[in-house]
Amino acid sequence: MNHFLDIHKTDKPALRGIIDRARAIKDARDGQPKAAPDADTPLAGRMVALIFEKPSTRTRVSFDLGVRQMGGQTMVLSGNDMQLGHGETIADTARVLSRYVDMIMIRTFDESVLEEMAEYASVPVINGLTDRTHPCQIMADVMTFEEHRGPIAGKKVVWCGDGNNVCASFLHAAGQFGFDLTFTGPVQLDPEMEFVGWARNAGSAITIERDPIKAVEGADLIVADTWVSMHDAQSARERRHNMLRPYQVNARLMSHAKPDALFMHCLPAHREEEVTSEVMDGPHSVIWDEAENRLHAQKAIMRWCLDL
Ligand code: CP
Ligand code: NVA
Repeated sequence: MNHFLDIHKTDKPALRGIIDRARAIKDARDGQPKAAPDADTPLAGRMVALIFEKPSTRTRVSFDLGVRQMGGQTMVLSGNDMQLGHGETIADTARVLSRYVDMIMIRTFDESVLEEMAEYASVPVINGLTDRTHPCQIMADVMTFEEHRGPIAGKKVVWCGDGNNVCASFLHAAGQFGFDLTFTGPVQLDPEMEFVGWARNAGSAITIERDPIKAVEGADLIVADTWVSMHDAQSARERRHNMLRPYQVNARLMSHAKPDALFMHCLPAHREEEVTSEVMDGPHSVIWDEAENRLHAQKAIMRWCLDL
């Protein structure tokens, strides 16, 4: 049994195996109707709990669909509607759920909730986003890059904007998959230095460059995310927007990257804020492939968790 808690906590062969399997799962479905079950139904007879303490479109639909296509069933639970949201401990919730279901995916606020769930659950636990990281998203992003451009090792990825949870998982992926990452954004919103240090120790060149034009020179991939995450105080919105405006990904910025650079965004996007519609809907953008690949990557993650 394996938990999938973070990219830096999962070993390299397992991560590579998950990406390769996700590609194979996607290839096998080529041309199949969207709702058809997979030819192989390894989750037949299994139940997966999907717990959400924050809103979600992609994570919710892609996990639910992925389990069903693999022959399993799901329970989508809102943290607030559970006793978890009314004082029952995380440890007790984990012990009880483990008697009912075969796997737990949780999207929560504080990382400690995920960690405690994993510590006390006797079934695999998957991180569906915390305030600090979003590993399933970046597995789909690595898969998407490689589908379009081949191996990501040795490439230059540029993160524009807030050094948030999605940026953190990109730093972990840089260390595990062997690519370089440049962060460009205001000093107040730098990524966590613990994660920068981790990626550097793992052998990646991690650069912090305040000038976005300089940052994107030679970039193979440019990534943006919302300027205000779900865990950020809404009262900080205006201040964050003012700091982040110079880091908008627009056609001018893209023109300074490699001519064949890709653009990614985990979505949901705020059009004309962190990225213009011209870029989102333009020739560099692979955002819809990223969203689709959540489905395939998570199927591979779930199979790895259950050794199936
Ligand atoms: N990218 C992502 O995780 O989207 P949702 O918040 O819609 O799940
Ligand atoms: N950084 C964003 C990602 C959403 C998928 C957030 O945490 O709200």
